[in-house]
Amino acid sequence: MDTFNRMETSQDLRAWLRQMEDEGELVRVKGADRESEIGGIVDIAMRGMGRPAVLFEDIPGYPKGHRVVSNLFTSVRRIALSLGLPGDTSEVDLVRFWRDYMKEAPTIPPKEVNHGALLENTFKGDDINLLSIPTPRWHEGDGGYYMGTGCLVIMQDPDSGWINYGCYRVQVHDRKVASIMISKGKHGDILMRKYHDKGKPCPIAVVVGVHPSLWAVAGIEIPYGKDEFSAAGGLLGQAIRIIKGPVTGLPVPAEAEIAFEGYVHKDDLIMEGPLGEWTGYYAGGQEMRPRIDVQTFWHRNDPVLTGAIPGIPPNDDTFYRGTARAGAVWQELEAAGVPGVTGVWSHEAGGSRMWLTVSIKQMYGGHSKQAGLIASQCHAGAYANRVVVVVDDDIDPANMDKVVWAICTRSDPKDDVEILKGCWSTHLDPMAYGAHHNFNSRMVIDACIPWDRKKDWPATVENSPELEKVVRDKFGAQLPKGW
Ligand SMILES: Cc1cc2nc3c(=O)[nH]c(=O)nc-3n(C[C@H](O)[C@H](O)[C@H](O)COP(=O)(O)O)c2cc1C
Repeated sequence: MDTFNRMETSQDLRAWLRQMEDEGELVRVKGADRESEIGGIVDIAMRGMGRPAVLFEDIPGYPKGHRVVSNLFTSVRRIALSLGLPGDTSEVDLVRFWRDYMKEAPTIPPKEVNHGALLENTFKGDDINLLSIPTPRWHEGDGGYYMGTGCLVIMQDPDSGWINYGCYRVQVHDRKVASIMISKGKHGDILMRKYHDKGKPCPIAVVVGVHPSLWAVAGIEIPYGKDEFSAAGGLLGQAIRIIKGPVTGLPVPAEAEIAFEGYVHKDDLIMEGPLGEWTGYYAGGQEMRPRIDVQTFWHRNDPVLTGAIPGIPPNDDTFYRGTARAGAVWQELEAAGVPGVTGVWSHEAGGSRMWLTVSIKQMYGGHSKQAGLIASQCHAGAYANRVVVVVDDDIDPANMDKVVWAICTRSDPKDDVEILKGCWSTHLDPMAYGAHHNFNSRMVIDACIPWDRKKDWPATVENSPELEKVVRDKFGAQLPKGW
């Protein structure tokens, strides 16, 4: 697969909706309300990965054209198609794609334009009404309505001018009031503190409803200082068209569905949350968080709000972030000098962070332990990880049956399990400890055939490649599709 020679993708969410419907990857649901029914259906949709995206229409109490789409990226096929890759791209090929993207780090600077569908409806002052959008309460226990889940939050470094965007949750409280929750140490948190330390309000723009591949960049760890729109341009293979917000000057995608800009003033806080989170718990609770003072509000005619809902994993972002994370861990292992890596998988049930499997072609004694310990601590793998498993290259790291088989038959717990304490975690992890609930412990399981027993290791019970080919060629037409 040529990583960067792909089908051209669009920047427009509506082109994506049409493409997904044509591919049988989208269903429409009419008449679900925003209070609980949209969220209730999304919760059901997310229970099985590979299910289609859901477009909600005719939302009671809102103009007919106002829509919500969710379950964006719960299938490998949909992620591949969105990135311009063939629909039958395998899990590990998708991981390879992200590995190459992280390694090559292609960039295309954004292009400023003075028109765009986003500008179809522009509101200022008392005409701003965020409540005109049918923002759902995603889970019954949520403390409010979250417009920002499948979103971009854009900020600028006051010193260097660097533009960053990240996906941080945004709650809508009133016509002109929203709030934001950014975890400590994330780029948005660092930038906001820079303004506040200088005694200035922090300019901010929130965008909801862009092509999912543009959103994908918001949820992955693009390095500090790297322009996120240029990174997105590199991913899409084209310059992102942006307009500049009239109040903050921040760039906003010209084809976005919904956006607003404004300021976060120092110590201007509002009670935020709880939101059911990606670990599957309401572990973060309710807290005072930064309030956004909204100054400009835009939306297209018949706007479409995108939701990427956290919950018990797997959920909307676990597949894409898992494949992106696995690609980044693979790249970082190679950069750390670990040879022979043949695959990495970040299991979806671990929320794309908590479970990592690395497959290697063993080359020397201690190789498997080295790979496991580095995977558990390299930048892309370290945050909120709990389990790392290292397997041989005959095991597909994305096939959990095979991974469990390898743990059960190739590891000896007394020698092959390392427990690491005091590692990097988050208050959203219910098992985190320490004064601020941000440490955890984790285990690294070496499930590779022991290096010094490789020579006399028993043969495995399976078809030889020759017999596999013979029976497939001869009987393939009689066997069910997919065998
Ligand atoms: C759907 C979704 C929701 C997220 N919500 C939050 C959030 O509320 N707060 C947060 O700090 N990170 C959140 N993240 C993770 C960040 O987007 C991610 O760590 C990203 O790399 C942050 O951007 P940055 O590296 O520029 O700080 C979320 C990610 C996704 C995909």
